[in-house]
Parts: sequence; C-alpha cells; structure tokens
Amino acid sequence: FEVNWDASAAEKGGWDSFMDKEIHEDPSAVQRTLLGRLDEQGELNLDEVRIDEHDIKAIDKIVVIACGTAAYAGMVAKYAIEHWVRIPVEVELAHEFRYRDPILTPRTLVVAISQSGETMDTLMALRHAREQGSRVLAICNTQGASIPRESDAVLYTHAGPEVAVASTKAFVAQITAAYVLGLFLAQVKGAMFKDEIHQMLQSLQSMPQKIQWILDTQTQTVQRAAAQMVDAKSFLFLGRHVGYPVAMEGALKLKEIAYTFTEGFAAGELKHGPIALVDEGEPVVFIVPPERGRNILHAKVISGIEEVKARGASIIAVAEEGDKDVERYADIVFWRPQCHTLLSPLVDVVPLQLFAMYMAQSKGYDVDKPRNLAKSVTVE
Ligand code: G6P
Repeated sequence: FEVNWDASAAEKGGWDSFMDKEIHEDPSAVQRTLLGRLDEQGELNLDEVRIDEHDIKAIDKIVVIACGTAAYAGMVAKYAIEHWVRIPVEVELAHEFRYRDPILTPRTLVVAISQSGETMDTLMALRHAREQGSRVLAICNTQGASIPRESDAVLYTHAGPEVAVASTKAFVAQITAAYVLGLFLAQVKGAMFKDEIHQMLQSLQSMPQKIQWILDTQTQTVQRAAAQMVDAKSFLFLGRHVGYPVAMEGALKLKEIAYTFTEGFAAGELKHGPIALVDEGEPVVFIVPPERGRNILHAKVISGIEEVKARGASIIAVAEEGDKDVERYADIVFWRPQCHTLLSPLVDVVPLQLFAMYMAQSKGYDVDKPRNLAKSVTVE
C-alpha cells in the first residue's frame, strides 16, 4: 500500500488547479481588501495612505500606470473615480507612459497598480513620475515588493498569494482597492455627500456575496458553454462603460490560457470596424449593462447584439437576471445578480475567468502555467 502525497495537490486545497482555487477566492479577496478600512461610523479610514489632507485636496489629476490585467483594473478605476471625485483620471500602460514625456506636476497623483509589485515596466514608470515631483500611491498585492517600497503610499490588496499566471482574484481585489481609494478621495475632498459614500460602501460590502452567487449558480452554464465552443478559432468581446475593461480582461484571459485569438472592443466601436469580422457562427461575447433606470446604454448594447446576430454570430451575454432582451437574442447567458453599475465589473468578470479556465482545460492545456508567459515580468 502506497500513499501518493502530492505537495502541489495539497496546496491547491482540493481544486483542479491554482486558477480554479483562486477564482473561488474572488469573494474573499474583495472582502479582505475592504476589511479594516471602515471605522465604526462607517467612514473610510486609510491611515496607510500617508499623504496629508492638504495635499490630497490639492490633487487635480490622477494618472494610473499598470500593465496587463492591472491596467484593466485601472480602466475601471477611471470610470468610478471620475464619477465620484470629479477629477480627471488617465490610465496608461506603464511602458508607454515612461517614454513619452508625460505631463506630471506635484498636484498629480500617480497610482501604480501591480499584483506582484515587481513589474519592471511599472517600476520604471513610477520612478519617472517621482523624479518629476509627483506623488505615487501603489495598489499592490505583495507586501514589501519593490513597487510599494518605492512609492509614497500603499494601499495593499489582501487577495492572498496568487500562483496561477493568469490573474483572477488579484484583479477583483485591485478594483476593490481602487473603489476604496475613489471614495476616500471623495470623502476628503467633500466631492460626495456622506450618505452617498456610505451607501456606496454598503453596496461594495455586498459584492462578495454576489460574486459567490455567480460561482454557485453559473459555473455549470459556463462549463457547458466552454465545452460547446472549444473548437472556436476566435472570439470578440464587447462592452461599454465599465463593461469595456471587463470585455478587454475577458479577451485577455482567453488568449493567455486557451491560446485562442481574441479581441476586446468598446461596443460602440462595433460599427467602426469590428463588425467586418463577424461571420456565420463567430462567437461574440457581450457585457450587457443593466436596464434599470434610464440606462440608454442597455438599449445601445442590445442593438449591437441585434446587428451581429443578424450576421449569424453566436452570442454569449453577461447580463442582469431577468433581462428579457438578452433572453431573446443571446444563445448563452451568464447571469449576474442586480448590483450598482459602477460596481458590476466585480461580478461580470467572474464568469469570464471561469470560461477561460474551462476552455483551456477542455483543450488539455496547463491552466496555471501557460506557454511563454511569466507571472511577474521583471525585465523592461
Ligand atoms: C504579467 C502577468 C499578467 C499581469 C501583468 C502585470 O504579464 O502574466 O497576469 O497582469 O504581468 O503584473 P503585475 O504583477 O504588475 O500586476
């Protein structure tokens, strides 16, 4: 009798892969990133952001620098922070930013987002920003890494160590930290009423539960969809507003681990080019904004779905429960529970993470260690 004790299997805690385990840690990654950041009065208390109030009030522009998945978290941050704080937020790939003579002043806050804290492109960009006299705040998942060490302030994400090369739980934690930062800036600058901030924080605290709902109720649908589409040669991903970075991230996940040719686009661009790619049977994934209120974007995305459907595309939609238009046109739907639109990326990305994982698995690839990629890229 022999016991085969596999250390790596033990670390995976019963999951098939680290990626599977880490996607299932999405809810706790969000929860832990919020933990300890609200005081008893429900106000945000970020002692770790050691920038004094006077300097925060003086900030007149935010520039987010990051690479890969972290840059898509930065795009979500732009939509939320501009809406809440009413100051311009630029998002730039760190390697582009560094070499184009960007305009930086002491009133610019540079936010460097990085899971590993060691990405050389991001590190070089932050050094450049500091040389120009700007303050740098890092959103980072790794304690004591180079990026937080060289920044003026750090907001740690508490996703826990991420092993799979394709980032999942760190992404939702980065977005959560960006929301916390945005609401904190709104609080210090008086850009929102206290009640509004409070309500938004409450909505944020309900997100782990909503992510869990996706994991509990949508996984089988996602797994079946992947089995059905395993031979597809390419995918288009389309979203608007905060659904746009989600589409980009969904496309990135699938190319990283399933080696499928994917492109993410802003859905409004469809008629300006991508629609030429749509042919009979082409899979197109739409991130559909909620219909509630006067959301004109819902109607616009639905009309995009109609356009590609008429050309024979196969539609996968991520949409809010009960969306009748989506039911009518989509071939496959990954449902999301109701949530605030600005917070929806936290739930919408989850089925796309699962989809990429099941696609890679169905093709027999190593989902944790995709070819040619490294978890942390420490060269420029
Ligand atoms: C590499 C990884 C990506 C990651 C990117 C940025 O390319 O393969 O998954 O998004 O680096 O990494 P960082 O550690 O800075 O978030």
